[in-house]
Amino acid sequence: MFTWEDRGRAESDKGNSLTLRPENTAGVVRAYIEHKLWDRGLNKLYYIGPQFRRERPQKGRYRQFYQIGAEVIGPASAGSESPARDAEVLEMLATVLDRLGITGWNLELNSVGCPNDRAAFNTALKKALEPVVANMCADCQRRAVTNPLRVFDCKVPADQPIIDTLPRISQFLDEACRTHFAAVKEILTKVGVPFTLNDRLVRGLDYYTRTAFEFTHGALGAQNAILGGGRYDGLSEALGGPAAPGIGFAIGEDRLVMSLQESACAESVLKKPDVYIAPLGAGMNPEAALLARELRRHDVVVDLGDETFRLKKSFETATKAGAKYILIVGGNEVEAGAFALKNLATGEQISVPRAQLAQKIQE
Ligand code: HAM
Repeated sequence: MFTWEDRGRAESDKGNSLTLRPENTAGVVRAYIEHKLWDRGLNKLYYIGPQFRRERPQKGRYRQFYQIGAEVIGPASAGSESPARDAEVLEMLATVLDRLGITGWNLELNSVGCPNDRAAFNTALKKALEPVVANMCADCQRRAVTNPLRVFDCKVPADQPIIDTLPRISQFLDEACRTHFAAVKEILTKVGVPFTLNDRLVRGLDYYTRTAFEFTHGALGAQNAILGGGRYDGLSEALGGPAAPGIGFAIGEDRLVMSLQESACAESVLKKPDVYIAPLGAGMNPEAALLARELRRHDVVVDLGDETFRLKKSFETATKAGAKYILIVGGNEVEAGAFALKNLATGEQISVPRAQLAQKIQE
């Protein structure tokens, strides 16, 4: 975390310890407690904004970055603990990424169990690490002491065969956690959201219980998670509140943009214009603008020229932009209420009444 002592102008501020927020889940849960949001049943909350972490910067990892996150939290009686919530959140995320046109995402899924499972797993992991850790990288040697779970984050190739021999959290899940996880997977399969089980996925924050997930994208490099999240059923109690199971996620906005650029979707997101509107002659800009507005209201992708362009220049610009049609807007056309629409690929030109333009172009 970014933490420092306030040098403060006011004497009373001096020496205060300040920290920039590294994430929002804990803050949302504090707000839940402070404002007694359990009165509202199941809460579905969101946030968008900058976060700060004192990490070693690299591609896709910054000290200031942006998150779009959401949390579902409430009393268990409101359904907050149900595997239906986990599946609901994951299905929504799959839909969001698909709608944005991001192709090639991979949903990596795991269950990290409850605190009892974790404790047993930690003990077993420490024991398994003892005889082998001396052969591992310096980071792993440190992790083995401070937080053995993080060993699974290691990307050093030479360490992988050793990591493959370590116990997995999936072997330590109790009956209730196993059943919960099975139900999440069942719903995802039913609704057709593809996922990959990854029992190395332990996540970097300590509050997680049960379902943990990341959506990764191959083109991002080492920092390949577009978003991450999971369940945190004990967090409210840990912060002094009532039992309030919850699940949520945060999308790394910076990485979302990167994966958008890397996706084959760039083509479909940056759509080529259906039609290039060419105002012909002085005074035609307002008429052309009006047509553009009418057509855009019908979801036609429009590019708009300028009345100072000669017809030749309009054609060149339209062709360069990859437009399907060019629409000529001159005084005669406006008066007649019908416009010359030319197919740039075939060269075919027809006169189309104003009211039929959108339909004709979309055909
Ligand atoms: P997180 O996995 O620490 O989870 O962060 C979520 C996402 O934020 C990551 O998948 C990544 O896309 C982005 N991110 C994290 N650190 C950086 C960085 N240094 N530079 C650029 N992007 C970054 C959380 O923050 C949890 N609060 C998510 C959550 C919500 N869990 C439950 N509810």
